[in-house]
Amino acid sequence: MVQKKTLRMGVAGAGRMGQIHINNILETRFIAVTAVCSVIQAELDWATSTIPNVKTFTAFDDFIASDGFDAVLIVTPNHFHRDQVIASLRAGKHVFCEKPISPDTKSAWDVYYESLKFPELKVACGFPRRYAAPYVEAAKRIKNGDIGEVVALRSQTTDLIMDNDYFVNYIKTSGGIFVDCCIHDIDACLFLLGQDKTPATAYSTGTTKVFPMFKDYGDIDDGMGLVTFETGDVIMNVYGSRNNRHGHHSMTEVIGTKGRILINGQPRLINIDISDDSGTRMEGPETQMQVFGLAFKHEMEAFRDWILEGKEPNFNLKDAAKAVSIGAALMDSLHAKGIENVKLF
Ligand SMILES: NC(=O)c1ccc[n+]([C@@H]2O[C@H](COP(=O)([O-])OP(=O)(O)OC[C@H]3O[C@@H](n4cnc5c(N)ncnc54)[C@H](O)[C@@H]3O)[C@@H](O)[C@H]2O)c1
Repeated sequence: MVQKKTLRMGVAGAGRMGQIHINNILETRFIAVTAVCSVIQAELDWATSTIPNVKTFTAFDDFIASDGFDAVLIVTPNHFHRDQVIASLRAGKHVFCEKPISPDTKSAWDVYYESLKFPELKVACGFPRRYAAPYVEAAKRIKNGDIGEVVALRSQTTDLIMDNDYFVNYIKTSGGIFVDCCIHDIDACLFLLGQDKTPATAYSTGTTKVFPMFKDYGDIDDGMGLVTFETGDVIMNVYGSRNNRHGHHSMTEVIGTKGRILINGQPRLINIDISDDSGTRMEGPETQMQVFGLAFKHEMEAFRDWILEGKEPNFNLKDAAKAVSIGAALMDSLHAKGIENVKLF
């Protein structure tokens, strides 16, 4: 039997999401973490004590110039993504970059066009819904024509309300609800649509009823966006909320000429219903990790198999750049009306 190669990963960023990816890789065969870069010493100490024989770096330039890994996993704050993806490609490494590929339209397309100069290198933007079983199954059925031609898509990401300093600080640099949160919905819709359509118009509105201070950061706590495409035959509607009382609830609906598919219609943690004196209820998830935890593992396995075996993945870098364009256009629509007025709608 031929011994399979192991894909060696260098990881830039070992914070909240970086540690989740590293722990997943440690549990996955034929992929290993050999280097970690972080600007936080406590995270490097965590990496050294968690990962066998890992090299650590505090400067990205030293990390990317070093040997010993074939691919870079970028899990740093969004505004570093563009330069770090491009530097990784120029250093001859494959790249897996966390969403968004970059937080603004120009830099997102910079990454896409730069990647075309390196056809021998693979670049993935991580969107776990592309590897979550219900989304993968829905995409297969839509492609098969089970619901006819797609007419409309609507998708939401609503997160458990977090009223603390960490969260309010996070919002300040997140890029806004449509780029940070609904980017998952936009990408999921593009994945389910399965066609390379060009967006034409974007309209959005929202409120700051729950977190009035978000207005100062040009953001909202609840918002809806409406997107059309140049072909004029498909509508996309996204809804994002930082204000969900019952936990995390991502759902997506695709309406076709012959039927519809609803994905994650009810926010179920586990498929049981409990009945007692107060009626019947089910339990929902609190976090997106409870819903998409397995999908994060599957996307990393897919990245490995893409590089080691040439297996076609569900990742799509053009969609990742397009998703940023759409998210940014929805933020622009919000700002064009004046964020202080959004409560009036
Ligand atoms: N797919 C998802 O659902 C999901 C969820 C959460 C976060 N994310 C994404 O993951 C990324 C990281 O988010 P997070 O919440 O883990 O952030 P975090 O602040 O917890 O961690 C950021 C990490 O980047 C490192 N870092 C900062 N500047 C650096 C630099 N110049 N060079 C190298 N490392 C540097 C920090 O040391 C830290 O390790 C973001 O792009 C975010 O959008 C994705």
